[in-house]
Amino acid sequence: MLLKFPLVIFFILIKLFLLVKCSKNERKIQYYENIIDANEKLIQKFHYPSDASQYRPTNNNIKDYGTFDFIIIGSGSAGSVIANRLTEMKNFTVLLVEAGGFANDFVRIPAKCGDVLLLNEFNWFYRTVPQTTSCLGMIDQRCPYSRGKGIGGSSLVNGMVYSHGFSDNYDKMAIDNPGWSYEEVLPYFKKLERFKKNVDDVKVDFAYHGYKGPVSVEYFPTNRHFTDLFIKAAKSSGYKSVDYNGCSPFGASKSQAVHKKGQRWDAGRAYIEPILHRPNLNISTHSHATKILINNVTKTAYGVEFSKNGQLYTATATKEVILSAGTIGSAQILLQSGIGPKDHLDEVDIPVIHDLEVGSKFRDQPGMYGLYFITNYTDPNVIKSQRKKLKEYVKGYGLLAASGSDALIFSRLNKDSPHPEIEIEHTYMDPTETYRKTFYYNDETWNAIWNGTGDGSRVFTFQTILLYSKSTGTIRLKSNDPYDYPLIDPNQLSDPEDLEELYRGVKLALKLIETPPFKSVDTKFINRPLPACNGHKYLSKKYWFCYIRHTSTPDNHFQGSNPMGPDPAKGAVVDSRCRVHGIKNLRVADASIFPFLVANHPNAPCMMVGEKVSDFIKEDIHFK
Ligand SMILES: Cc1cc2nc3c(=O)[nH]c(=O)nc-3n(C[C@H](O)[C@H](O)[C@H](O)COP(=O)(O)OP(=O)(O)OC[C@H]3O[C@@H](n4cnc5c(N)ncnc54)[C@H](O)[C@@H]3O)c2cc1C
Ligand SMILES: *[C@@H]1O[C@H](CO)[C@@H](O)[C@H](O)[C@H]1NC(C)=O
Ligand SMILES: *[C@@H]1O[C@H](CO)[C@@H](O)[C@H](O)[C@H]1NC(C)=O
Ligand SMILES: *[C@@H]1O[C@H](CO)[C@@H](O)[C@H](O)[C@H]1NC(C)=O
Ligand SMILES: *[C@@H]1O[C@H](CO)[C@@H](O)[C@H](O)[C@H]1NC(C)=O
Ligand SMILES: *[C@@H]1O[C@H](CO)[C@@H](O)[C@H](O)[C@H]1NC(C)=O
Repeated sequence: MLLKFPLVIFFILIKLFLLVKCSKNERKIQYYENIIDANEKLIQKFHYPSDASQYRPTNNNIKDYGTFDFIIIGSGSAGSVIANRLTEMKNFTVLLVEAGGFANDFVRIPAKCGDVLLLNEFNWFYRTVPQTTSCLGMIDQRCPYSRGKGIGGSSLVNGMVYSHGFSDNYDKMAIDNPGWSYEEVLPYFKKLERFKKNVDDVKVDFAYHGYKGPVSVEYFPTNRHFTDLFIKAAKSSGYKSVDYNGCSPFGASKSQAVHKKGQRWDAGRAYIEPILHRPNLNISTHSHATKILINNVTKTAYGVEFSKNGQLYTATATKEVILSAGTIGSAQILLQSGIGPKDHLDEVDIPVIHDLEVGSKFRDQPGMYGLYFITNYTDPNVIKSQRKKLKEYVKGYGLLAASGSDALIFSRLNKDSPHPEIEIEHTYMDPTETYRKTFYYNDETWNAIWNGTGDGSRVFTFQTILLYSKSTGTIRLKSNDPYDYPLIDPNQLSDPEDLEELYRGVKLALKLIETPPFKSVDTKFINRPLPACNGHKYLSKKYWFCYIRHTSTPDNHFQGSNPMGPDPAKGAVVDSRCRVHGIKNLRVADASIFPFLVANHPNAPCMMVGEKVSDFIKEDIHFK
């Protein structure tokens, strides 16, 4: 009796503990149910924005926002890092100007926001000018151009795939730009990363990872049958199992992802939220930078003009202005500030301060989403009720805990290529209206391929990405009005070799379907001819060319509008320390500085750039 008594108490305590825990989980589930409902209602009402006029000032006064050592424009993958690293120095004051606001818990649900579900306030949602060589299956032949907006930038809406990019690209970059070899940038990747091997069936080269940085990198904690089949199909096709961020990228792997226990780990969460208390950091959100203030005689940057809540402000920078507004934003702001090709600036009536090839050559990787497959297997994860999915999510796993892009193959097309040329990304998508709206497919394309293919439980796609496309495009201003969206002309697949290579990539992808793992679920390429390609024999090479031009989209990996290099006469905009040629106290640090396609997934490379530039600045200011 005496012995039993403590035991009873013990059980009562356990029971109470479980009860408290359950009701806490229950509250969390309820919370997520509410935010999903609220956000899905907003998505219903989503209109594609056509300009940034919501920021337009409502009066003619300009107010002074104050004086800071540094002003950073844009709190994306690179800018967030720089704001953090510069304010580590207690005697630096920093103003961070960001057009969007802070993230919410909705954007951090990987399967609910990002990648292909982008109809919200965290996306600028640009559309290109009408295209003639790609995006032909989109409304008015305009490609949708997603771009993150908010503290975290595009890392708030991206597919979360974590990748360094290939070593030979950095080595090539270092030929003209000292300091950028892979050996020299790898320490910065390690500095930012907090890697965890949270699943068993992956190969990891531990020496290539970091374990103490602010950016959490884990594999998605989701077991899905099609993903396993993809890895098995890769193996039976001869692809090795690799750590694509390790010794060699050629092969297959589950994706390493910028997330933690199933939640997005964007640059805002990693770098800004932990330092909000720093008194030397001033963050101005919902603030649209309109131009950089530059003394046109001394060619020295001294501040930034921005508009917030209908009011125009100027802020002064005594040391430097750092432009991290992304490939599109940084080009646009430089052009608005009078830095760009003289002919173009004359055209839009902007006084030229310095003639540089801003926005003259930018690049992206075309991705073919049109490889859509149907099987006879129903994924039980998909047909679970939302409540069941959320029950798993609050414990850190399940379908909601992963973005759609959870496994990949890196392959050569040519025997002696030093780097992979094609990526086959295994991707989930729901054939829903939200997906159609994000991809901007016209009705004909949508109805031909995706419409009426069920609830998404039996389907998957292979996104086939051409990693080194040769086509280049331009970013130009529509006018000298900073609230106009820029004219984006990616010109993808205009180089005939690109089309040929992407076609070869598509064939590689289709081969996977012929392997026993995919045969075991009776996998079939969706057998519905695209009406626009009716003039060609179904599945002939010409048909595929047509199909590729209709269903390819930008892969959102835009780079290079402000390329790095020693010689402005050859198109360089920044030097190897990211300083704008010919202008004092102005740097650009983001995806726009890569002189050619360096990165297959640019989020981590942009954070690396942020880390590296922060050190440049500290060195150059002689405070280090
Ligand atoms: C849909 C999508 C999916 C992607 N998937 C992946 C992936 O899986 N893996 C991967 O590695 N990469 C992915 N990427 C690419 C990657 O996220 C970006 O290349 C990277 O985040 C770019 O970083 P950045 O610093 O150059 O700019 P961004 O992160 O875009 O930051 C720029 C910031 O500047 C702000 N800004 C712009 N103009 C102004 C202005 N005038 N005034 C004030 N602020 C301004 C923006 O609001 C934004 O916050 C994806 C991108 C998208 C859009
Ligand atoms: C940021 O600067 C503005 C303008 O000088 C000021 O009103 C605001 O209080 C500052 N915020 C912080 C957190 O320092
Ligand atoms: C700023 O701080 C660093 C060390 O944190 C110091 O070396 C440097 O001299 C300081 N500079 C000024 C201007 O106070
Ligand atoms: C510099 O800018 C001022 C004010 O906008 C203008 O009046 C002047 O003509 C410019 N000078 C040069 C050299 O462009
Ligand atoms: C998709 O198909 C359904 C019926 O099958 C039809 O009602 C709907 O309009 C189609 N969607 C589009 C965008 O045409
Ligand atoms: C799916 O197709 C495979 C291969 O044809 C077959 O062996 C299997 O029984 C099918 N499964 C179902 C559920 O129909």
